[in-house]
Amino acid sequence: MSTIEVGDKTFGLFIENDLINQRTKAISIQLNANYETRCPVFIGVLNGSFLFMADLLKEVHIPCEVGFIRVASYTGTESSGTVKEMFGLPDYLEGRDIILVEDIVDTGFTLKYILEKVYLQKPASVSVCSLLFKPAALKTAINELEYIGFEIPNEFVVGYGLDYNGLGRNLKDIYRANP
Ligand code: IMP
Ligand code: MG
Repeated sequence: MSTIEVGDKTFGLFIENDLINQRTKAISIQLNANYETRCPVFIGVLNGSFLFMADLLKEVHIPCEVGFIRVASYTGTESSGTVKEMFGLPDYLEGRDIILVEDIVDTGFTLKYILEKVYLQKPASVSVCSLLFKPAALKTAINELEYIGFEIPNEFVVGYGLDYNGLGRNLKDIYRANP
């Protein structure tokens, strides 16, 4: 099915699950090599990262720990720009190698907020792994963004964890809003 309805919007097929899996495997090969001797802590940013995090971690074969945090900041199709709150950041990050796992980096404000909180614990290193990245939407530099699945245009997308007003997270493929 190449066109679908999610809520009151129509979306067209954009990135198929097979391609997502290929990119995810390629990223995991890099992570397995770069963190081979380091036992990193993967921290998934909920809700959007849940499928990417699961598929990525199944391909990571080095010793590692896994956690999740949750932030609230987004309504409809436009970033509010203000991150309201964060829940559940692990408190044992001092001296550890942290890999934050995101579904998408849009303005970058969410990550900037999370990174500030993470650095307060004095980790040894921090990097960010995001399935999607919209370079044209970025409003604050994220130097830690080292692993990117796909750079995409500044369009609203849904599926594979990403939602439109809470809907569409369970779609296998990624769709983009029809103009
Ligand atoms: P940022 O703070 O603007 O970078 O936005 C980060 C969060 O907004 C992401 O983690 C997503 O949850 C959400 N978001 C940004 N762009 C999209 C999109 O195109 N579709 C669905 N959610 C999005
Ligand atoms: Mg998110």
